Amino acid sequence: MPTTDSLVKPAPVPNMSYEVKNQHLLDWVASAAALTQPDHIYWCDGSQEEYDRLCAEMVAAGTFIKLNEKKRPGSYLARSEASDVARVEDRTFVCTTIKEDCGPNNNWMEPETARIILKDFFKGSMRGRTMYVIPFSMGPLGSPLSQIGVEITDSPYVAVNMKLMTRMGKTVIGVLGEFGTYVPCFHSVGHPLSPGEKDVPWPSDPEHKYICHFPETREIWSYGSGYGGNALLGKKCLALRIASNIGKTDGWLAEHMLIMGVQSPQGEKSYVAAAFPSACGKTNFAMLIPPKSFDGWKVTTVGDDIAWIRPGKDGRLYAINPEAGYFGVAPGTSAKTNANAIATLEKNCIFTNVALTPDGDVWWEGLTDEPPAELTDWQGRKWTPDCGRKAAHPNSRFTVSATQCPSLDDQWDNQEGVPVSAFVFGGRRASVIPLVVQAFNWAFGVYMAATLGSETTAAAAGKVGEVRRDPMAMLPFCGYHMGDYFDHWLQIGHKVENPPRMFCVNWFRTDSDGKMIWPGFGENMRVLKWIAGRVQGTAGSAHTVLGWMPRYKDIDWTGLESVTQEQFDELMKIDTALWQKELESHGEFFAKMKNRMPEELVLIKQMLTLSLARL
Ligand code: OXD
Ligand code: MN
Repeated sequence: MPTTDSLVKPAPVPNMSYEVKNQHLLDWVASAAALTQPDHIYWCDGSQEEYDRLCAEMVAAGTFIKLNEKKRPGSYLARSEASDVARVEDRTFVCTTIKEDCGPNNNWMEPETARIILKDFFKGSMRGRTMYVIPFSMGPLGSPLSQIGVEITDSPYVAVNMKLMTRMGKTVIGVLGEFGTYVPCFHSVGHPLSPGEKDVPWPSDPEHKYICHFPETREIWSYGSGYGGNALLGKKCLALRIASNIGKTDGWLAEHMLIMGVQSPQGEKSYVAAAFPSACGKTNFAMLIPPKSFDGWKVTTVGDDIAWIRPGKDGRLYAINPEAGYFGVAPGTSAKTNANAIATLEKNCIFTNVALTPDGDVWWEGLTDEPPAELTDWQGRKWTPDCGRKAAHPNSRFTVSATQCPSLDDQWDNQEGVPVSAFVFGGRRASVIPLVVQAFNWAFGVYMAATLGSETTAAAAGKVGEVRRDPMAMLPFCGYHMGDYFDHWLQIGHKVENPPRMFCVNWFRTDSDGKMIWPGFGENMRVLKWIAGRVQGTAGSAHTVLGWMPRYKDIDWTGLESVTQEQFDELMKIDTALWQKELESHGEFFAKMKNRMPEELVLIKQMLTLSLARL
């Protein structure tokens, strides 16, 4: 933490290659510089030349390693501090005047107290560094569905990642104009340099981290971390926590959802938005390659992580992907699990905390069946397959522009968004939840989404196999009270004439030996085809106590012999005893929302309990 109270230096003359007419922005940048006291101020223009220059500077500084130009052109590897490898949920705060408004799903700080604490940390925090001003648009440039943000940061790593992840640079300043509004995103790694002090490759504050959101004034302050969602403030902070607040006020939804197109050989196309908690293969699903037997079927990718969804004039919901790139988890990504991602990553990528091969390429667990004989691990240490450590950090990442994705949907940049026909909610559950079920109606769908749960894996916090409730996969990202969020979802569905159909899926059911029954990955296309059929009114189903479920004959099994009718029945089984326990656990979760829990959902729980008792 910077402790200095010494003489305030005059602000440096900003380095900017374009004119900014927005006085509010100019004033904010000036006050941020006065507080943090950087040596230089640089306004990013978003050009390729700028990107290349900043990357070259980071190579010279030891932050980036340039990868082999022949094997991985235009790509770099960064290694973070071992204490700065993931989002810090326990240091993430929502600062609302009334404590109750942030809900049991968020850590709370009183806004004025938070500001006093943060100002103290930011005071002098950029000494010896350059302050980068990064204008960016979440969503297509100039779209009425988009939001502009400006991130001030002392991290060039953030600047280049923001170039890949957002529409970034001087064109955004043009859209902002003289009086446009933006979300101020203030970030410092919290590692000022004294005169002559040598920098480290990954500066951060190992002891203090604050990721603070102010929904009432729509601003973000992030201190102490340079990693992912803590530092690339357009992503989880703006596009989910702040945007969910804006959406609540303005009548739309900011969701932790991928968006994909599903097109039949006859050319009928439906768009599906799907929410999965982490470690459920969300990016793989977004880039799914149909099995060979699904000749003529096409799956396209609009987004892999976030969707902003609004009622359109025609009574349907429309979605945009506010991002322009992927910040995906590397381990487990392979030509078998996600060939589209592997093709996307051929060039122009930033890898963080993966392993380095002796010939200057990257590797991570799962990339190949056999690991290379030797590597340099994510911490820069020599690694061999028998050394007992992971070569890549489990949360190691790739950053890459969406435009490199072979399955990119041709409407991904459409200013109006794409019409959503189905919402899919899926968790990791070894039992209880069937392979797929369609909700009877919107309120039932909201119930299924609100009670979404996922079993923790070795990479996640908590005991392995414990069910963590993660409503709409938004638990760490909903920027207000979860009970009010459920209410907002119910409201949205009643506002539109033709809301999307709602589905719940579970790829992870196991048999009595603990073996996964469903093959997953590309085979998920079979479920997706049924979903598309339900949306178009062509797929059959059976009525069950939970909703509409496919019978064996309703799924297209061509080319897949490994799932028998018996196994299918196992995947779809509704075990009443387990379900009664499940409903009790829903009740415990709902009780945490206290008087903000919508009555409809409580009544659906009661109805399900009574109906299941009849079976
Ligand atoms: C992510 C996450 O990084 O959900 O996308 O944690
Ligand atoms: Mn995510």
